[in-house]
Amino acid sequence: MKKLNILLTSLAKRVIIYLAKILIFKGGSILLINGDCIKEMKKLSDKKENINCIIADIPYDEVSSLGAERAKYSGQLRKINKEKADVLTFSLDEMLKQMNNIKFDSAYIFVGINQIHKVYNFFKYELNKDYMCRLVTWHKTNPSPANGQHMFLSASEYIIFVKRRKTKFNGSCIHNVLNFPTCKSKLHPTEKPQKLLEFLIKTSTHENDVVLDFCMGSGSTGVACKSLNRKFIGIELDEKYFNVAKKRIEED
Ligand SMILES: C[S@@+](CC[C@H](N)C(=O)[O-])C[C@H]1O[C@@H](n2cnc3c(N)ncnc32)[C@H](O)[C@@H]1O
Repeated sequence: MKKLNILLTSLAKRVIIYLAKILIFKGGSILLINGDCIKEMKKLSDKKENINCIIADIPYDEVSSLGAERAKYSGQLRKINKEKADVLTFSLDEMLKQMNNIKFDSAYIFVGINQIHKVYNFFKYELNKDYMCRLVTWHKTNPSPANGQHMFLSASEYIIFVKRRKTKFNGSCIHNVLNFPTCKSKLHPTEKPQKLLEFLIKTSTHENDVVLDFCMGSGSTGVACKSLNRKFIGIELDEKYFNVAKKRIEED
């Protein structure tokens, strides 16, 4: 009897932990998962989950991994600390494999300079599939003035846009340079502006379509989806950021 009680308690604990890691609300149209994107994307593709658009702002692996040492030797005037948010915890090959297993219509992958080549080539050349691919530049109209007297300002980030040939594109003759200011909120060290995400979502989806962000950070894509009546699946590994996203999307 005692053994059964212990078993039931540990089962109950597991159920509670499971529930804390997966959150479904807004009539099932928002699903937030605190977990590893590689494992969770595999589950989504096994379940043949319908995904219309992927928006993923993956860690660029540029700042945190080199940190103070690089700042000292590369002449940076200040150390940029992005905590764990900038550390890539999975291989790009595995990410691309899992993305390819999901049947999405279009995708926007925010990439660091060293990641552009691999992600672009995968969709453009390695897959024998019907993809169109374009490198898009986000021009930050209000860049940080840091080091401005020594160098060009760092006023751009890069997005690989991928689209199956016969799927929707709700724009016409849009330049591949998008002008949007950065956001000033401090919810996440690499937070992306809601207006930019809303623009991407409107360009590639319709109401009630499903958007997946497998590195959702503080949930900016989820907030944008909620405001535009798109369904949203968000995955985040870090519990702290997952809870920020959960609170933000619930309260928005
Ligand atoms: C560049 S940030 C995304 C920021 C987000 N766009 C926002 O506006 O808040 C990348 C996020 O990916 C998360 N991440 C890193 N490895 C992950 C993994 N294996 N699975 C899911 N998320 C991961 C990091 O914790 C980080 O929050």
